[in-house]
Amino acid sequence: MKRRFDPSGPLRGTLRAPGDKSLSHRAALFGAMCDDPVQVTGYLEAADTYSTLNAVRALGALVEEGADPGTLTIRGPGLRAATEAHIDVGNAGTLMRLAPGWLAGQPGGEWSFDGDESIRRRPVDRVAIPLRQMGAWIDAHEHRFAPFTVHGMPLRGIEYTLPVASAQVKSCVLIAGLLASGTTTVIEPEPSRDHTERLLARAGAQISRDGDRIVLTQHDELELGDIHVPGDPSSAAFHIAAAILVKGSRIVIEDMSANWTRTGFVRIAERMGAVVIGDLEAPRPGEIPHDEPVCELDVASGPLVGTVVEAHEVPLAIDELPLVALLGCFAEGETIVRGAQELRVKESDRIATVVDGLRGLGATIEATEDGFVVTGTGGLRGGTIKTHGDHRLAMLGAVAGLASREGVEVDGMEAAEVSYPRFETDLQSLFTSR
Ligand code: S3P
Repeated sequence: MKRRFDPSGPLRGTLRAPGDKSLSHRAALFGAMCDDPVQVTGYLEAADTYSTLNAVRALGALVEEGADPGTLTIRGPGLRAATEAHIDVGNAGTLMRLAPGWLAGQPGGEWSFDGDESIRRRPVDRVAIPLRQMGAWIDAHEHRFAPFTVHGMPLRGIEYTLPVASAQVKSCVLIAGLLASGTTTVIEPEPSRDHTERLLARAGAQISRDGDRIVLTQHDELELGDIHVPGDPSSAAFHIAAAILVKGSRIVIEDMSANWTRTGFVRIAERMGAVVIGDLEAPRPGEIPHDEPVCELDVASGPLVGTVVEAHEVPLAIDELPLVALLGCFAEGETIVRGAQELRVKESDRIATVVDGLRGLGATIEATEDGFVVTGTGGLRGGTIKTHGDHRLAMLGAVAGLASREGVEVDGMEAAEVSYPRFETDLQSLFTSR
């Protein structure tokens, strides 16, 4: 599906971003792992998170959707899932990486996983390797891709140092630790999103953090009661970037997650000169808070200067780095992102697709092995961008179009469905005429 986004007048208005995708996946999975019913509000209604609801249904949970959008009651099977199921993860990498952690330690069970064509190119060995060290049995295509089968086995706790900062891998190992004997320790090279730790702590698991070490002991009953899913900072980031780039804009984002492990993009944008006012959570490395804080953000357009994003900031803004590249096109001087080789294994190789895509719109941008270098020229011409089936590329193209001189045609706009079906409607609600 092709869509055109023309240069826009100032953006004005108030928005609530759709429910946070990471937390929605976890709300469904952890809700199902509880014995008592869990009420969820703010659940993201999108293709990826529906895949997770279907997965927990297949694993024995009863999910009732409430009358209000995003409200659910999940009555789980508890930590012991139905002993056989086929899980279609669709395009959802988080489901594919987290669910095996829950199932691997349930002896006697057998669960097959598969998904769409794009997910079959994304590696699962990053979770299979630590799970096998814990005693798991996983048969995967070429040892590292979907389709794969998890055969439940007794697990033992391990100490695992993540080769790269990945919240998905960290979460998988911690979840597996619930049913593993003894203690499970995960060591992160850099802090990454911590929703799993917060939920586990709130659900009564024995989990603690000491510097870069997260330690969890075997635990067989979780209790949550309710989970509110705030607006997704990674989705809101597209509107935030549009308001920063389109002259004269001023928008407010309500009920957005203020979790410090998710708001790296806002801090980078502020450093570049953007005016973003809001009560973001201050960094709390070394702690596991029990809550998920929310905030309201007030964003206005303004002149930007280039910046350098170093490896330690990458996990805190991983899904927003394409937008850092876009801001860089409009900034004075160079914008450099380093230590972001993880971008190569996202829904597309996001170093290649962002660099080619923005270059096609007139940007001066070079790929490096682990990031990119953008030379700001104060604006962007426009043209056509292909999404390669990647939702973040689709939304990037739309925002680029509004801020460009000639407009942008996005080829493959339907990709936005997996995380933000209302994206275009929400964007339109901010339009004013020039
Ligand atoms: C996610 C973690 C990140 C992120 C993805 C969602 C999560 O992936 O890119 O969109 O919910 O844990 P990695 O953990 O692989 O960096």
